Amino acid sequence: MAFRVWPDTGPTEAIRYALVWKHRPGSLAQLPNLQAILVLGAGVDSVLADSGLPADVPVIRLVGAGLPGPMAEYALYAVLHFQRRMADYYAQQRTAIWQPREEYLARDWPVGVMGLGVIGGFVAQRIAVLGYPVAGWSRRDKSVKGVEVFTGAAGFESFLARTRVLVNVLPLTPQTCGILSARTFAAMPRGSYVVNIGRGGHVIDADLIAALDSAHLAGAMLDVFEQEPLPTTHPFWRHPKVIVTPHVAAPTLASESEAQVVDNIRRLERGEPAPGFVERTTSSGAHYIALDHVRALAAFMVFAWHFTHAWNGAPNPPSSAPGATLLPKSNHYANPNHEAVLPPRPDANVPNKSDGGAMKKLLLVIVLAIAAYFRSYAVGNL
Ligand SMILES: NC(=O)c1ccc[n+]([C@@H]2O[C@H](COP(=O)([O-])OP(=O)(O)OC[C@H]3O[C@@H](n4cnc5c(N)ncnc54)[C@H](OP(=O)(O)O)[C@@H]3O)[C@@H](O)[C@H]2O)c1
Repeated sequence: MAFRVWPDTGPTEAIRYALVWKHRPGSLAQLPNLQAILVLGAGVDSVLADSGLPADVPVIRLVGAGLPGPMAEYALYAVLHFQRRMADYYAQQRTAIWQPREEYLARDWPVGVMGLGVIGGFVAQRIAVLGYPVAGWSRRDKSVKGVEVFTGAAGFESFLARTRVLVNVLPLTPQTCGILSARTFAAMPRGSYVVNIGRGGHVIDADLIAALDSAHLAGAMLDVFEQEPLPTTHPFWRHPKVIVTPHVAAPTLASESEAQVVDNIRRLERGEPAPGFVERTTSSGAHYIALDHVRALAAFMVFAWHFTHAWNGAPNPPSSAPGATLLPKSNHYANPNHEAVLPPRPDANVPNKSDGGAMKKLLLVIVLAIAAYFRSYAVGNL
């Protein structure tokens, strides 16, 4: 397979796969026969931000590819740095002060990891191995060994309230942009720390500085920034409670990435799905699919289905039925006239318009559907 390096593309019609990292916006639209965009990193925010991104060309990111190990090392170093008071001792050394400080044991130093994906899940487990009480936060519930999992908007405040060091490993999406805000910091205990190895767009810089200056937060270690390189005039550079690193938490490793990119191209050539396929809306080409809204729609469908059956006086299938689905299991339930032709099952709960139990059930379903919608909406806007 011939290989060309931008901008020396040769005839653009010949280009079938584009390997990209911080590409020039609009440049991919100039490749008419592009089959896939292979992103040379785990985060796809900069690629999806390109308003000229071809809408029908699959975007495929790196999954793992040697990144989780170095990310875990960085996070672990930050946790140890703050727990073992290294910033204080460095400062004391500058003026030759011999002063032991109050020390904390790992078991009394709760760590919270935002994002429990390929990287975040690994980071959380690595930290937990050293005896820190570790919790993680994600959209959906999951099981991560040794890690207490909090989910969605409902779990966010409790997750923050128990966290002494907050490690952010979320992807940057419209839902997570600016999530490290004054509101988030206020929900953390006084004297907490923030470690950002996600993306700079997660942090509202002014809010972080205000929280540090008010001593609500005790320190921050930041690897990623809204603008990179971080402008020399940015207050983070000189803030006494901030440690700045130049986006080095996990360098993309050539060997692992090469192998994954080659494997993905081979899969695509065979017509097989590639791991790392990024779902995005076709309308803007710039967002992850709004899964929260899909969940809200599902909740609404459940509501509508129950509503129709309660209104028509149809029997509901037993709620404990194995494999219960949103759709009717048989024509018996689908037939709006079944009442006329089929007698009610003796074991069925048969609600009708005058049945107080059915109305209570209906009300409960309405309340649950509305709650599910607003919960999903809140997750999407955190
Ligand atoms: N600093 C660096 O050098 C560096 C290097 C590599 C990667 N990164 C960053 O790390 C990020 C994570 O990579 P990854 O491979 O672990 O991604 P991933 O596998 O897609 O995992 C993302 C995690 O974030 C959670 N999440 C997404 N949106 C959320 C929301 N609105 N609310 C709550 N949780 C949400 C997901 O929850 P569900 O599991 O429930 O879907 C998932 O657990 C990348 O996007 C990139 O920005 C930084």
